[in-house]
Amino acid sequence: MKIGIFDSGVGGLSVLKEIKEKINFADIIYYGDSFNSPYGSKSIKEIQKLCLKIGEFLIDNRVDVIVIACNTATAAALETLKERFTSVPIIGVVTPGAKMAIKQSKNKKIGVLSTPFTAKSDIYKNVIKNLNSKYEVYQEGCDLLCPMIERGWESNEKNKGLLKSYIDRLPQDIDTLILGCTHYPLIRGEIESLVNKKIVDPAEETAMHVLFELNKLALKTGIKKIRRDKINVDYFITGSLEKFKEVGEKFLGECLVNIYQPLID
Ligand code: DGL
Repeated sequence: MKIGIFDSGVGGLSVLKEIKEKINFADIIYYGDSFNSPYGSKSIKEIQKLCLKIGEFLIDNRVDVIVIACNTATAAALETLKERFTSVPIIGVVTPGAKMAIKQSKNKKIGVLSTPFTAKSDIYKNVIKNLNSKYEVYQEGCDLLCPMIERGWESNEKNKGLLKSYIDRLPQDIDTLILGCTHYPLIRGEIESLVNKKIVDPAEETAMHVLFELNKLALKTGIKKIRRDKINVDYFITGSLEKFKEVGEKFLGECLVNIYQPLID
């Protein structure tokens, strides 16, 4: 079995990490569109166009499930991808994150840090309110965080001050904070050092959804789930391979091999 995962860059590695921890019978194709990053300041049409191209690439590579490991792409293109690619399940990160936050929050006040696109789309507010209308959701768009994480968080000395200024814009009385951009778990330690709230990383629950879908598929088709000692991951990266390797290795704590430039126009 094969899992296709994509993001605008290194952020989706936070989802890949959880998937690798929970699923030991499927290989992975990871697509990082760092050449077109950040998605969070693009229009919905631009994001949908980029996502459709990536979807085609993953389908051509015969994946059994597509994971949109990007909140912005989930907000902009989940429905578009579901309409276009009907042969495989397509899983976004927002509903899993929303469900986790609802379980975690006691005072029913949830904050979300995300890209400006995700914040403006109101997707977290809408999904959470649909699940339970009693919850209040406060969303903050952080335009500079994703590009800073792509470039290497430590290389910018203003990083912590900027992060604090975004966090300070959220109401003090939230008790739960969703990392509403898959890049943010890469700086989870920094975030935890600044806020004393329950932190929700949607990647954990997303990985459970992927496992559920693959189990369903195995039952339906009779495909054998063959346990691998080591999961093979092929990385297709549109921007700098060196930068991706550097930031990715630091986060995953392992050497990344099989990194390629995808051949798409
Ligand atoms: N990791 C993406 C997300 O979850 C970042 C999007 C961007 O490129 O701005 O939203």
